Amino acid sequence: MSTTSEVTAMSDVPQGREVGVAILGHGTVGSEVRRLMEANAEAFSHRIGGPLALRGVAVSNPTKHSRTLPKELLFDDAMELIAREDVDIVVEVIGGIEYPRKLVLAALNAGKSVVTANKALVAAHADELADAAEAAGVDLYFEAAVAAAIPVVGMLRRSLAGDQIERISGIVNGTTNFILDAMDETGASYDDMLAEATRLGYAEADPTADVEGHDAASKAAIMASLAFHTRVKASDVYCEGITKITAQDIEAAKNAGYTIKLLAICERIRSAAGEDSVSARVHPTLVRRDHPLASVNGSYNAVFVEAEAAGRLMFYGNGAGGNPTASAVLGDLVGAARNKVHGGRAPGESTYANLPLADFGQVPTRYHIDMHVRDRVGVLAEVAAVCAKNGISLRTVRQEERDDAARLILLTHEASEESLDATVTELATLDDVLTVDTVIRMAE
Ligand code: HSE
Repeated sequence: MSTTSEVTAMSDVPQGREVGVAILGHGTVGSEVRRLMEANAEAFSHRIGGPLALRGVAVSNPTKHSRTLPKELLFDDAMELIAREDVDIVVEVIGGIEYPRKLVLAALNAGKSVVTANKALVAAHADELADAAEAAGVDLYFEAAVAAAIPVVGMLRRSLAGDQIERISGIVNGTTNFILDAMDETGASYDDMLAEATRLGYAEADPTADVEGHDAASKAAIMASLAFHTRVKASDVYCEGITKITAQDIEAAKNAGYTIKLLAICERIRSAAGEDSVSARVHPTLVRRDHPLASVNGSYNAVFVEAEAAGRLMFYGNGAGGNPTASAVLGDLVGAARNKVHGGRAPGESTYANLPLADFGQVPTRYHIDMHVRDRVGVLAEVAAVCAKNGISLRTVRQEERDDAARLILLTHEASEESLDATVTELATLDDVLTVDTVIRMAE
């Protein structure tokens, strides 16, 4: 990683205060963090103003790691490692919620800064962790928790701290983007492309958190909290996954000029009375094929931000994997270590706006409704009447002939989630509507 000019400049490595580091976890990310920390030790000394010193790595099964780590660095008791006097910064890359929560709180309460990659932990307990960091006067960093090395947290906490964010639309889960993109490319079914994602190592053995949208919902909670200076937890995020998306949905989207993406949408919603609220939601979404998010292929992630002064920005890259996640962790580690050497604090939690969470039923959206109806006189009029009764304006209506029925595809104008949902429920009760096959929301 060091360039020739950097190596030349390294003749005089800063001899500032040594910063002790404990790493909790030595899996894909932890081992990569340790490797890069060692490989770039001199460069990091320059960037920090003093050397980083690894005090230990806590693992559940030390024997498993005895070939890659010297015995004196291996700890099976994470609390013992955290409590060491010479540990200044704790890096948490274990995963899960309850166990790392105890460890991170213990570290913060003992005056250690913490760097974590744990989105589920931050999305569930940001308030408690931020309060502990504040009380101890230490840093809590979590860049790797959202889309790995894509600088989403730093961008929201620092770069756009002077702007007003209106909306974030993110593809923040690589597994589901891979599956949807592969379905779009090949016309194959969800099950076949999930199997392909598993074969290629994108999907976990248990892919529930990815395909049901929970992983993206944690990231949405973190982004919404930072963007709108309001505490938003994972449990506040409306969440629908991709398991019901069919090859037919993808085909219909294509024909209408759209692609289907699992979007994490964090939005400031302004009422007619001028009052703001925050909506955070994750669901399959129709994205126009000329929108920048439509071109995010494979397992890539992208975060599209709309801000009052900055306008539209898009951040794109690998949102997962050992290397990109380690890059984000190390960026945080350098920041936390600099503060230990030179003083100063990272931006803390900012929840001053404390906006209310929008009622999901009132969130404005547009629907794509795909259904089968009896092909007879008056059906379209019946459908249109139900839409009109619920205040829904239709944008386009497309009909395809089938042997004994017709397929109707409706694209609506914007209306509240509640009115659109009521419309779909009522359409399904009409005698001439045989099935309502799919309902997918559409992006702006
Ligand atoms: N499983 C996630 C993904 C990465 O597929 O993007 C970790 O959040």
